[in-house]
Amino acid sequence: MSHKRVAILISGGGSNMVSLVDSMTKDHPARPCLVLSNDAQAGGLKKAADRGIPTAVVDHRPFKGDRSAFEAELLKPLQEAQPDIVCLAGFMRVLTADFVSRFQGRMLNIHPSLLPKYKGLNTHARAIQAGDSEHGCSVHEVTAALDDGPILGQARVPIQADDTPESLAARVLAWEHKLYPEVLRRFAEGNRSPVLLP
Ligand code: GAR
Repeated sequence: MSHKRVAILISGGGSNMVSLVDSMTKDHPARPCLVLSNDAQAGGLKKAADRGIPTAVVDHRPFKGDRSAFEAELLKPLQEAQPDIVCLAGFMRVLTADFVSRFQGRMLNIHPSLLPKYKGLNTHARAIQAGDSEHGCSVHEVTAALDDGPILGQARVPIQADDTPESLAARVLAWEHKLYPEVLRRFAEGNRSPVLLP
């Protein structure tokens, strides 16, 4: 069987990347081909290297906000790795429509909210502030609009009376680690029906 090739883009600790990489074994239809970060200090880079995954870094800072120039460099290791699927996993740069269009229909993102609620940042604090009874995470296909695109899976997490943004984020993250691998496996099999957890 020829495996689907998966590139994973990260900016930080990479716990979602680890959950994806560790899921791609045995009869899984995909294998990781690259972990790419916009930050050389991202803790996930060592975790990927320790697992034998090729890594690359394209620092966004020298481009001083010129997103097209940054993305032209970001594209180079991706074009070498030739991924079938690109997973954004805590990748904290907004991508242009032009970049996204190159991976149309084969780029996924995980976002820590029950989309379409709370696009953008500080999602846990915003859910608590709004008095919501539940929060969660979503995996969606990436389109040109931020945190938009068809939803491929969601996990719902009850908000507790004593939750802080940090305690809620930790419980949501544990569900992210279940949701993203499940969605990726199905996606790699060509199944786009939404995964609903728990
Ligand atoms: C995760 O909670 C992910 O959902 C979030 O960043 C965290 C990365 O953690 N992503 C976003 O907020 C994207 N807008 P990780 O590096 O340990 O996977």
